[in-house]
Amino acid sequence: MRERDLRVLRAELGGSQEAQLKDRIFHGAVGPAAALHGLGAFPSSRGRPAAAAPDSPVLLSLQSKLQSWSKGYSCSGVVGRDVGQLLQAAIQRQSHDINVMVVVNDTVATMMGCRLGTKPCEVGLIVGAGTNSCFMEEARYVESLDDNEGRMCVNTEWGTFGDTGAMADILTTYDEHVDAGSLNKGKHRFEKLIGSLYLGEIARLLLVQLAQDKALHAGGTTPQLRTQGMVTALEVLNISEDQGGLAAAQCLLQKLGLQPSDPDCFTVQQVCLAVVTRAACLCATSLAAMLTHMRKNRELPQLDVCVGVDGDTFQCTATLVSAVDDSRAQGVAVVAAVALRLEAQRREVDQLLQPLRLAPRARQQVQALLQCEMERGLRQETHAQASTRMLPTYVRATPDGSERGDFLALDLGGTNFRVLLVKLRSREAGGICMVSEIYSIPPEVAQGPGSQLFDHIVECIVDFQTKQGLWGRTLPLGFTFSFPCQQKSLDQGILLNWTKGFTASGCEGKDVVELLREAVRRKNQFDLDVVAIVNDTVGTMMSCGYDDPNCEVGLIVGTGTNACYMEELRNVEAVPGAEGRMCINMEWGAFGDNGCLDEFFTHFDAQVDRVSLNPGKQRFEKLISGMYLGEIVRMVLVELVEKELLFQGRPCPALQTPGIFPTKFLSTIESDGLALRQASAVLQNLGLAASVEDALLVRKVCQVVSLRAGQLCGAALAAVAEKIRDNRGLAQLAVTVGVDGTLYKLHPHFSQHVQQTVKELAPRCTVTFLQSEDGSGKGAALVAAVACRIAQSRAAPATGQ
Ligand code: G6P
Ligand code: BGC
Repeated sequence: MRERDLRVLRAELGGSQEAQLKDRIFHGAVGPAAALHGLGAFPSSRGRPAAAAPDSPVLLSLQSKLQSWSKGYSCSGVVGRDVGQLLQAAIQRQSHDINVMVVVNDTVATMMGCRLGTKPCEVGLIVGAGTNSCFMEEARYVESLDDNEGRMCVNTEWGTFGDTGAMADILTTYDEHVDAGSLNKGKHRFEKLIGSLYLGEIARLLLVQLAQDKALHAGGTTPQLRTQGMVTALEVLNISEDQGGLAAAQCLLQKLGLQPSDPDCFTVQQVCLAVVTRAACLCATSLAAMLTHMRKNRELPQLDVCVGVDGDTFQCTATLVSAVDDSRAQGVAVVAAVALRLEAQRREVDQLLQPLRLAPRARQQVQALLQCEMERGLRQETHAQASTRMLPTYVRATPDGSERGDFLALDLGGTNFRVLLVKLRSREAGGICMVSEIYSIPPEVAQGPGSQLFDHIVECIVDFQTKQGLWGRTLPLGFTFSFPCQQKSLDQGILLNWTKGFTASGCEGKDVVELLREAVRRKNQFDLDVVAIVNDTVGTMMSCGYDDPNCEVGLIVGTGTNACYMEELRNVEAVPGAEGRMCINMEWGAFGDNGCLDEFFTHFDAQVDRVSLNPGKQRFEKLISGMYLGEIVRMVLVELVEKELLFQGRPCPALQTPGIFPTKFLSTIESDGLALRQASAVLQNLGLAASVEDALLVRKVCQVVSLRAGQLCGAALAAVAEKIRDNRGLAQLAVTVGVDGTLYKLHPHFSQHVQQTVKELAPRCTVTFLQSEDGSGKGAALVAAVACRIAQSRAAPATGQ
């Protein structure tokens, strides 16, 4: 017998070899650890672990493809197939009413079925015909997962450790023989060192060698001894027992047709002890490697877990919880019960959220409905019934780069109120340079007397002029006023109604430019030359049009939402003339206020509308914009709690507070990477202790609500693009959309949702999205510059004569 084999056999694995083996086990030599678990005890890969599948917060998935057979199984037509389905099909063939809920690996069933008192096991270990283990891994280390929060049970399939040659220096010739004689040569090398299917054969081959070396039975062998499988693992285990081991050895040798002497029996016992001890050591070593891995990944100085290893080299205290008779059955039942509960919950959650999902047909419908409303808004006889008021802006062209001069600009209506100084120069002289100051509009000013609001605006202008040393100069001013205004000219805008939380009294139905001028007169300190009032969509289109002349659409998705575009003047019946184009402020926020969108409003939307400052108004805006998305999510969460689908139905008073879940939470919770940690943090700050499932569900609700908003916005924009293409009788249109607004700019996925929907619904339009960097204040200054240029050119001839 070769010295190295005996030494290894006797498992005289010194510390260093054990450590080496330990390292090798968890540095990629172990077989493809399949997230979750496989059928019974065979390696199977799951479909993408669903743990984080965007739209199902269940922690189990039912698909389980068999990767390879082991332990003597080799049925054809199963490898690579979903064994859950195969079983279900077999059940149906025999027309039993049984529904396969889950497919679990035996290590997982063992883990799930065992607990020490109240402490659940987090490691499952099988050392039987085969060997394998599973453990609860930190999800962030399971790269195949979409998400990295919480934990995921990983089935290591360590039976295949060494299949890539990592254990070549440990395998003995006997192991090679066992492998060569097995059904799956070269596979499951580690299992073949430990599993009871192989221990007997290893021992038999050793006995044959010993006999050949005349170290056993004086060299005599028998056909039985030379016959594969004649020694069982049970015999090996019994023989290695102190009590009765020698007697068992004798029985075995007699069974093998030998007349054993006492030394023979002792030799056989040594051999069996070596085989068993090596197997146990290998198993313990890999377990130790796994526990160390868990401790490291959990960044714990000490790991306390329910598994059994000894030896103080491991900084782990582990307790082995041996499975009682039906633990595995219990384990499978527990997993099935969990799956049933989660499946039922998932169905109930999907049912609750279904109305918030927009099928392709619904998206087309919204597009068609808006196209119809646009036509009605443009035509005089139907304008009054249209929900989109299609307001002429008297902006007839986008900038041509010849604009010059210094302009003041105001930007009111978004998150911030800005006063700007915009200097327009030739590109050679630096093009456009701007300085601006942000001022707040406190709610009591936005919702107080109108005069107070405009006095506040004037105070800000005074502050700005002082800071910029503009006293004594009356610069032309462009006023971005982001509310629906009926305009009869560039510098006059009758406020039709407030939106976005503004309700200042005495303004609706008034010319806001006049209201501003009155406030300046009240201040009586300086003059203001308001030459243009523009909507923020128009300002944004102009601002982006300065860099891209193809920009003929302006889109805002921020606190509110709206769009404008360059319409053929012949279609704008409210404005005389048929030549050229005019920018139309669609005021699409009010789309559906006439009921044309009612089938798309859910009871959540109705609740949000009911508690808003302007019930029944701005219905489309309330499905899309930043002021409302958080509220829709809050309403859904409240209902999920009531239905005990969230936070286990624990009362959440915090969620009853309007505005407690601002839309920026959606951006945080839906951001890629660490999303669930963010979700938990957001909920924590609201005093809501969230489980991983809760955080996943909250994220799902955010995703569904923001996806719908993005698709609705995209469907509306597709209607605009198609209108322009149709107006111009083009087979294919290329157009740029200037965009602004915090929701579009800051939400991680909103812009994609919009762009994908535009592509889907306006395939004959190539739409480029250009985010406005300088806001619409610059646009207002450009409109003012164009107005001044036109006024000067009109004034010029008069002086020429
Ligand atoms: C920018 C524009 C504003 C516009 C706002 C909309 O800031 O300059 O004119 O009203 O975007 O977005 P917000 O998210 O602020 O409502
Ligand atoms: C207003 C629009 C504005 C939009 C975006 C809406 O509430 O009615 O005029 O363009 O918000 O700010």
